[in-house]
Amino acid sequence: MKCKKLVAVLLSCLFLVVMAGCGNSGEKPAADGAKKAGGKKIGVAMPTQSSQRWIQDGKNMKEKLEKLGYTVDLQYAEDDVQAQVSQLENMITGGANCLVVAAIDSNALVNVLAQAKSNNIPVIAYDRLLMDTDSVSYYATFDNKGVGVAIGKYIETKMGLKEGKGPYNIEFFAGSPDDNNAHFLNAGVFEVLKPYLDKGQLVCVSGQTKFDTICTLRWSQEVAQKRMEDILSGYYSTGKNLDIVVSPFDGISYGVAAALEGAGYKVGQKWPLITGQDAELMASKNIMSGKQSMTIFKDTRVLADKCVKMVQAVLEGGQPEINDTTSYNNKKKMVPSYLCTPVPVDKENIQKELIDSGYYKKTDLQ
Ligand code: BGC
Repeated sequence: MKCKKLVAVLLSCLFLVVMAGCGNSGEKPAADGAKKAGGKKIGVAMPTQSSQRWIQDGKNMKEKLEKLGYTVDLQYAEDDVQAQVSQLENMITGGANCLVVAAIDSNALVNVLAQAKSNNIPVIAYDRLLMDTDSVSYYATFDNKGVGVAIGKYIETKMGLKEGKGPYNIEFFAGSPDDNNAHFLNAGVFEVLKPYLDKGQLVCVSGQTKFDTICTLRWSQEVAQKRMEDILSGYYSTGKNLDIVVSPFDGISYGVAAALEGAGYKVGQKWPLITGQDAELMASKNIMSGKQSMTIFKDTRVLADKCVKMVQAVLEGGQPEINDTTSYNNKKKMVPSYLCTPVPVDKENIQKELIDSGYYKKTDLQ
């Protein structure tokens, strides 16, 4: 009798266990993700709101992480390095479970990231590599050298350099020296254009081609405008025309264009080919009007998707998507990375890339 009772109790336990299992397997993956995320806190540190791209990056990251059930602390440091350090310290003491960081100065976060590591908080580098630290797990970015190569190739094609055309006068701008991306991009530009400088098809009248002389601290529009003004008054006031300006960022392109206008250049009349990066709305309008020739479209929606997968991997287990394990050595480790593909955009393909893809509405560009 006793034995029968015991069997009955065991059977009902087994039934309950099986039923509980069935209940779980019936849940949708998103709900399961949300359950796992269970309010875990993600600190997202962005550099500045002065450029449209970072506003979109922050917004995308926040929305996508919240949809999965994470709590997000999104902070902008307005290009103030110390403010970014304090924001990260606050995230750590505030109980963040993971940090996503787009650094202002990629070398300045070593100590605060060591603090994150000693608190077992995984760190993911967003768009800009975190240098000199072993506290970073993954890096989500675009092919930064590829951006420079695409800019160089655009100039090569549009100016008929392969066909031997020229000589053309060219001036170079690079990004912020404390941003690893700026160096990669510049290497890509010069990989394509240096042979034409050597052959004399491209002439840099100012002679300023070294990274240290062409870089622009914090990618500043104002700094770039001032440098362009100085170059125009110093080297082009005696009738030489400037034909090409390599700009690595739409904000820098605005500064360059303002300096050109100030020196009497007019769009449509010997106005130089000006490049850019980020497909900002203003740059896209300038492409339509001819003030800027091209930009590099980096779809921040795709970047955020890849980065969110990295967050999930470090917090919930599993492998994120990685497509590069050889390019990004931060001087302490080779950081496993996902490189999204940058797309050059000009008047020819702006409709397809920016409007048809839903990035902008047609009316935005009018
Ligand atoms: C990013 C670029 C951006 C630049 C200025 C770089 O790190 O890769 O997309 O234009 O910063 O914000």
